[in-house]
Amino acid sequence: MNSSQARTHAWITGASSGLGAALANSYSADGAQVALTARSRDRLDACAAALPTPGNGSVHPADVTRRDELSDAISAIENTAPIDLAILNAGTYTPTSLDEWNTASIRDLFETNFFSVTTSIELLLPYMRARGRGHIAVVASVAGDIGLPYAASYSASKAALNRICQSLRPELEREGIRISVINPGFVRTPLTSLNTFPMPFLIDADRAANIIRDKLARGHFEIRFPWRMSVAMRLLAALPPSLTLLLTRRMLRQ
Ligand SMILES: NC(=O)c1ccc[n+]([C@@H]2O[C@H](COP(=O)([O-])OP(=O)(O)OC[C@H]3O[C@@H](n4cnc5c(N)ncnc54)[C@H](OP(=O)(O)O)[C@@H]3O)[C@@H](O)[C@H]2O)c1
Repeated sequence: MNSSQARTHAWITGASSGLGAALANSYSADGAQVALTARSRDRLDACAAALPTPGNGSVHPADVTRRDELSDAISAIENTAPIDLAILNAGTYTPTSLDEWNTASIRDLFETNFFSVTTSIELLLPYMRARGRGHIAVVASVAGDIGLPYAASYSASKAALNRICQSLRPELEREGIRISVINPGFVRTPLTSLNTFPMPFLIDADRAANIIRDKLARGHFEIRFPWRMSVAMRLLAALPPSLTLLLTRRMLRQ
């Protein structure tokens, strides 16, 4: 256990499954106190009970699209100990093909992936500003690097998260608050288990969580992995649009 980590109080959203549950395990194994949020209390209780140090976990169910529920959860967590690190990880994916194009479902995805993050930041800021310290880590995706076929709303929500983190960074830094943005490639979780397409360089959630914990501790602003997926997406984004189209056309279903 690392002694500075032993004092960390980490709040993790989307902690009942996949990457969030793996992050909770990783931080708990390192001696941190972890506060877990998602909608399903049963799954959160099961995750908390399975932590390497179960006594260091607390459960705070909330729907992150509901400001009142987020506010209650953050107040309750702050009442136990100040939040040093908030990992805003809750997220979802809904396909957006032409046949399924629907503004209501795009708006719903943005409520979960994007506005839950802006609301969490809004609610965390008074606490962190008063203390002059804190770390906010936002889970986006390399899918935000380019507009991927059938993932218009998902790619757009993750690109938007990258931009708000970049925009807020200097102002937060001046107040002693750090912000990081995490852009994973494919991670093996219940979310990706539904995918029927190839997922190059897929990695396990535990490995992804350990990479994130290590890089957040080292103060990285942007965390991208696995490196081959990260480089491939960066190259794709840097190509002239006509060349990107040659590749994205090949991703269309037959
Ligand atoms: N897996 C990947 O390959 C991958 C790659 C890049 C980025 N990401 C991002 O990583 C994050 C975690 O994804 P995952 O793969 O671990 O997915 P997952 O296994 O489906 O987990 C999603 C988590 O978010 C919670 N959640 C969803 N909607 C919520 C809401 N309205 N309020 C509160 N909690 C909510 C879920 O819990 P409840 O249903 O109980 O609420 C669950 O704990 C997401 O932001 C995703 O976009 C994943």
